[in-house]
Amino acid sequence: MITSCDSNLNELDQLAQLPAAFARAEAGLWLEALVNQPTFLKTQIVPLLDRVAPADDPSIARTFVSPLGGCSLQVFVWAPGSKTPIHDHTSWGAYYCVAGSVLEDRYERIDDGTQLNRAHLRPSWRRVLHRTDRASTVAPYAGGIHRISNPSSRPAVSVHLYGPRMGGLDGRDYDPSHDYVCDRYEGERSMPQER
Ligand SMILES: [Fe+2]
Repeated sequence: MITSCDSNLNELDQLAQLPAAFARAEAGLWLEALVNQPTFLKTQIVPLLDRVAPADDPSIARTFVSPLGGCSLQVFVWAPGSKTPIHDHTSWGAYYCVAGSVLEDRYERIDDGTQLNRAHLRPSWRRVLHRTDRASTVAPYAGGIHRISNPSSRPAVSVHLYGPRMGGLDGRDYDPSHDYVCDRYEGERSMPQER
């Protein structure tokens, strides 16, 4: 689909026009439909599993942007042991584990947000995502503070759909060991270790 039919990417620009809460729910359904398409699996996912190199960080194997730039779709490859920093996004997001499994940790911010570069987090919940699970969704900013990792011994692949960003600001990275938070701009990782 996504490789052969632009109309599906056009759908994403329509999705981007919806209020965020509706958009991210629809995004989860859109991803679930995508990953059940044999052509998408065969051309975009299966080849990735044959060449997963050891890595601490996940790698972004494919990126698709909708024609008007409203949404971006990314395919992540997770080597065993790889993980993201704890982070959020300026947009809504949805992700679906299509091969193997990944661990999703979610956090809530319990400070008042008045101090620059300071954030105090508390773990809120975690779950393991498999191919048989529904897509997970995040709200923008503190409504979706999360980390994804692959603590298993097998590689994993997930697909992620993000809504419109706020300019060049992609989101924020958090270091709870120092109650620290900083902005992350498109194309950069402000702390060593995903998007
Ligand atoms: Fe993320």
